Amino acid sequence: MKKIPVIIDCDPGHDDMVALILALGNEGLDVKLITNVAGNKVIEKVTNNTLNILNYCGADVEVAAGARQPLVRGYRRTDTEGAHGLSGLDGFDFPGDNPLRVSDRTALEAAADILKESEEKVTFVCTGPLSNMGLLIRAYPDLCREKIREISIMGGTCHFILTKPFMEFNTYFDAEASKIVFESGIPLVMYGYDVTYKALFQEDFLEKLENLGNKTGHMMAELLRKFTDLHNRVWLDLGGCPVHDACAVAGVIDRSLIKKSDSMYVEIMTEPGPLSGATVCDYEHRSGKPENAEVVFELDLERFLNLILESAGRLA
Ligand code: RIB
Ligand code: CA
Repeated sequence: MKKIPVIIDCDPGHDDMVALILALGNEGLDVKLITNVAGNKVIEKVTNNTLNILNYCGADVEVAAGARQPLVRGYRRTDTEGAHGLSGLDGFDFPGDNPLRVSDRTALEAAADILKESEEKVTFVCTGPLSNMGLLIRAYPDLCREKIREISIMGGTCHFILTKPFMEFNTYFDAEASKIVFESGIPLVMYGYDVTYKALFQEDFLEKLENLGNKTGHMMAELLRKFTDLHNRVWLDLGGCPVHDACAVAGVIDRSLIKKSDSMYVEIMTEPGPLSGATVCDYEHRSGKPENAEVVFELDLERFLNLILESAGRLA
């Protein structure tokens, strides 16, 4: 089976960790590069977290650091505990002797080089703010339009309200970059809160991870127990915990996992004011503006969680 070449742009983050494991352990994906972006935590922390995850699960993929802050708006302070803890990946003590190092290439350089060298189109999976994606499109517009197959985004929200209507962390954190991406004309699949707050795991899933009997399963179970505690205290307790970012990988692996989606015009608001950073989805198709994103509303949860278990079981 021909593997799908992917580049993952992320800000680990517990759910980014699950997205990485799902991709790295899946036999249908060829992870060409992992890039980091400031989001959940500052770039140093999310990069350190990425290298720790790769080292622990036995994966060796180039990790390139990208944007240290949003393109235009100020950097929203992330030095509180939040839903991911002070490190950005609280809940597991990784070994201190990690031999992996961040690439000498920046995220922009590495991603552009891979697009230039790739004989086939590359899929991007973005699970953090879209600063790197926006920069890449601005710096290499023709290359991106020619060589990017699709951008699978964990971001935005249509109907689901977590804090404020139309607001989701990744898209509002760097709204100007989000606007660049959503106006790029590149095929987008948007996995927002409408699907991610349905794709919840419970304790039985963590026990299945533990029962894999390998390091990766144990590490994931420990981290996700901590994430469940933090997320349910910081945000809300729906009787399970989301793995937002992994949804954006699942649909790339197997489109048949998507049980409900709709293509529509999605506007990213950037003007100053209460709606700045909002994803306003034209789900009634009234704007007359061309569809620019496929918005996902439902995944096959059982198959989704089983995919994660299968991937985790293939790693160290
Ligand atoms: O709103 C959820 C998103 O914000 C996820 O990507 C999570 O990791 C945080 O970055
Ligand atoms: Ca993330």
